[in-house]
Amino acid sequence: MFKKRVLGVLGLGEGRSIMSAALKSELWELGAVCDLDRGLCERRCAEFGVDRYTTDYGELLADPEIDTIGVYTPDQLHADHAMRALRAGKDVICTKPLAVGLDRARELLDCQRETGRALFVGQSSRFFEPLIRQRADFERGAHGELVSAETSYVTDARWFLAKNWSRAAGFSWMYNFLIHAVDLAAWYLPEIEEVYGAGAASANSRAYGLSVPDALSFILKDAAGRFAVVRGSYATPTLSGGSEQSISCTLRGTGGVSSAGYPKLQYLSSFPGEGTPERMELFRDRHPYYFRFEGESHHAGEYQNYIEYFARRLDAGETPKPDLREGIRTIAVMEALSESLSTGKSVRVSEVLARREIEL
Ligand SMILES: NC(=O)c1ccc[n+]([C@@H]2O[C@H](COP(=O)([O-])OP(=O)(O)OC[C@H]3O[C@@H](n4cnc5c(N)ncnc54)[C@H](O)[C@@H]3O)[C@@H](O)[C@H]2O)c1
Repeated sequence: MFKKRVLGVLGLGEGRSIMSAALKSELWELGAVCDLDRGLCERRCAEFGVDRYTTDYGELLADPEIDTIGVYTPDQLHADHAMRALRAGKDVICTKPLAVGLDRARELLDCQRETGRALFVGQSSRFFEPLIRQRADFERGAHGELVSAETSYVTDARWFLAKNWSRAAGFSWMYNFLIHAVDLAAWYLPEIEEVYGAGAASANSRAYGLSVPDALSFILKDAAGRFAVVRGSYATPTLSGGSEQSISCTLRGTGGVSSAGYPKLQYLSSFPGEGTPERMELFRDRHPYYFRFEGESHHAGEYQNYIEYFARRLDAGETPKPDLREGIRTIAVMEALSESLSTGKSVRVSEVLARREIEL
């Protein structure tokens, strides 16, 4: 008999989106939620008409009804919180980034092997409508042979620096923001081997005491010679309110080209190889599904898509992707990108993994 999965949510800032997702989904039940901030727990419970919360993560993990933990705490805490959930016998949905470097990667791999539970990385951008459409076209071969990709995440995110952890050790625009664009590149080029790039820490970032680069451009190459151009900009004004997409992914292949992005929820494609002229699809009717709260800062529809994908894959006995191995590979690419910025040289991902003695 079909049994709904039961979710416990840790961290109730962005965790608000997955609460909404679970409550609206026919595949999920919301078991309980947890945040150190009792007032926030009370506000979220009141907003959604639920009443089970705790400020103690241990108590959430001890709840036998909960089978899956959604981790939505600050980036620097994900590895710890995910491992605690695995050890408590729970499956894990961990928001991006899986971790802020490879320091805990081997421990994570060991922990998952010992516990045998699933770990899925919530790379939410894969689950927006235009990007789902683009992936379907890619998988049916409409692009012909993929030659190159361009991915970007461009947004003026200075508002993010109001969060206390955004200026603490381990925070970077790369791990918190650019990872969306890096993950999209890695989705299409899963064997990225060599990276090279440039980055600048603008005076706007430095004004907040941050010395990490906020303007970033990279080239990521795979062994077959295909490449992706990945761009990000986080502390200077952008055009994203009007003519520029915030997240975008363009694929260029021998048989056609496509470009998907949001927040405009737009998909452009042209597949002359199939006789398909240029086409523009807008998903305006889906706007209320994706953007459920005030403004467009939270986008719960992506989360509903990915928790439902997660549940269906597990029910079918398959591994939801990106899984831990794929997540760690993307973090290895991120480390290679950082190294390229600091050395000014191109860096091989296989060498980063070998140096860390990580086998995937
Ligand atoms: N599109 C996306 O996938 C997306 C979007 C936004 C944020 N995120 C991710 O979500 C995570 C949270 O970001 P945010 O903007 O909500 O930050 P936030 O600071 O608003 O929320 C984090 C919450 O975690 C709580 N917390 C911290 N340590 C805890 C602990 N030990 N036990 C219980 N609660 C604890 C804090 O009290 C806080 O309420 C980040 O990793 C961020 O990268 C993902």
